[in-house]
Amino acid sequence: MVTLIENPLRVGLQQDRIPEPQILIIFGASGDLTQRKLVPAIYQMKLERKLPPELTIVGVSRSKWSHEFFRDHCRQGVEEFGNGIGSEALWEDFANGLFYCPGDIDKSESYQKLKAFLSELDEQRGTRGNRVFYLSVAPRFFAEAIEQLGEAGMLGDRDKQRLVIEKPFGHDLGTAQILNQVVQKVCSEKQVYRIDHYLGKETVQNLLVFRFANAIFEPLWNRQFVECVQITVAETVGLEGRAGYYESSGALRDMVQNHLMQLFTLTAMEAPNSLDADSIRNEKVKVLEATHLADIENLALSATRGQYTSGWMKGKQVPGYREEEGVDENSTTPTYAALKLYIDNWRWKGVPFYMRTAKRMPKKVTEIAIQFREVPFLMFQSAAKQANPNVLAMRIQPNEGISMRFEVKTPGNSLRTRSVDMDFRYDTTFGQANTDAYSRLLIDCMLGDQTLFTRGDEVEESWRVLTPLLQVWDAPSDPKAIALYEAGTWGPVEAEMLLNRNDHRWRRL
Ligand code: BG6
Repeated sequence: MVTLIENPLRVGLQQDRIPEPQILIIFGASGDLTQRKLVPAIYQMKLERKLPPELTIVGVSRSKWSHEFFRDHCRQGVEEFGNGIGSEALWEDFANGLFYCPGDIDKSESYQKLKAFLSELDEQRGTRGNRVFYLSVAPRFFAEAIEQLGEAGMLGDRDKQRLVIEKPFGHDLGTAQILNQVVQKVCSEKQVYRIDHYLGKETVQNLLVFRFANAIFEPLWNRQFVECVQITVAETVGLEGRAGYYESSGALRDMVQNHLMQLFTLTAMEAPNSLDADSIRNEKVKVLEATHLADIENLALSATRGQYTSGWMKGKQVPGYREEEGVDENSTTPTYAALKLYIDNWRWKGVPFYMRTAKRMPKKVTEIAIQFREVPFLMFQSAAKQANPNVLAMRIQPNEGISMRFEVKTPGNSLRTRSVDMDFRYDTTFGQANTDAYSRLLIDCMLGDQTLFTRGDEVEESWRVLTPLLQVWDAPSDPKAIALYEAGTWGPVEAEMLLNRNDHRWRRL
């Protein structure tokens, strides 16, 4: 239980800023992401009065929709995937700012037409030439869209025009570098917002506050006191009908290169000089530069991949990965990835950072656990017959919070110890739902704040760390080479070995 103590000098100083009037142009407007995530997130901000009244959204995609059809489509999204429309009047006001402009991503005429339409809207809605171009299209179209926007002169104004690029940014180091070059040709890094929705999660941002607003943890946050770090992103969902995308991506590209690497860098980086975007991103890049897989020569000592087979989830039988629609029956795409990384710097040399992520695990849980070194000599009797390490666990989702595990004396005459947890929970302390990650990121982008977006060199460094593994895991291999785990279990036994070598064990979650 945590009591909230507010610093009276600070309360009320952090007013939410309202972005300037602008047009958000969504490429791929007929797709899933727009209806399920983007529009509900923007509407939520409308409900919270965080948007300028002039905010205008233009959907672009190949489908020949009308403005009215797009408005209905968005409304459905808000009703089904968001928190509902609230009042009819508010929805009307929002819907008046929704427009649709059909176009082909590879045709220059489409961009000319869009450009003229945006100028008209500037007049009509008072949006003053401010634009955010959001690429919510299949990654193979990113480069084409960016080049076309550049040629149409729509990204030439560094102060008024921004570009948002969804993940995955590249397929490996080489393709990420090429995409960065395309971006650099048409606009400056200051205009680019590479999205990783994990950075929009409240608890991920809290990592920085926890580390750098508390003096008591910093002295422990290093190789002298930390035995290992475990980062887990376990999902219960399976493929969710995304075979086309997932077959060419797999757990390493879908989750590790972006989301897990973000959790990793925020945990391991040095304190930035200030909170401005580049100070933070410089530190993230620095720690990535020092990071490598545990053993590049022998990758089996650095990583394990696995794939789920049919199993039971919540009392229902679910198909195995190779039986999912659209998946090759001999597919070797990993749905489970576990890695061991080291950081060669003064703070972390020799401390293993373990990461694991998978689909079809028994529980949805994302957490970062800092396991501290054991006491040098245990003079008490422990219920577990061994010294239990102290663990600081930061729960990113669900049951957001932080807990600290330590030993206490069990009541009674003998001096026996047992592990207990001291627990902070967001919901009981703050009693309010966390802001949706997309809402937070979209508003930051509209405000021109890049702190929670990934910089070009950061994406490349993250790909670089994983390259040796990608090369091996991408190579054609015997379907038997991949370890199997039953859906609804914690992954292949092989992943245990990754830790056993250091006398560590995965945390039971
Ligand atoms: C996405 C991945 O980026 O993140 C999905 O493409 C994954 O495969 C999702 O399910 C997980 O996000 P969250 O916010 O539910 O942890």
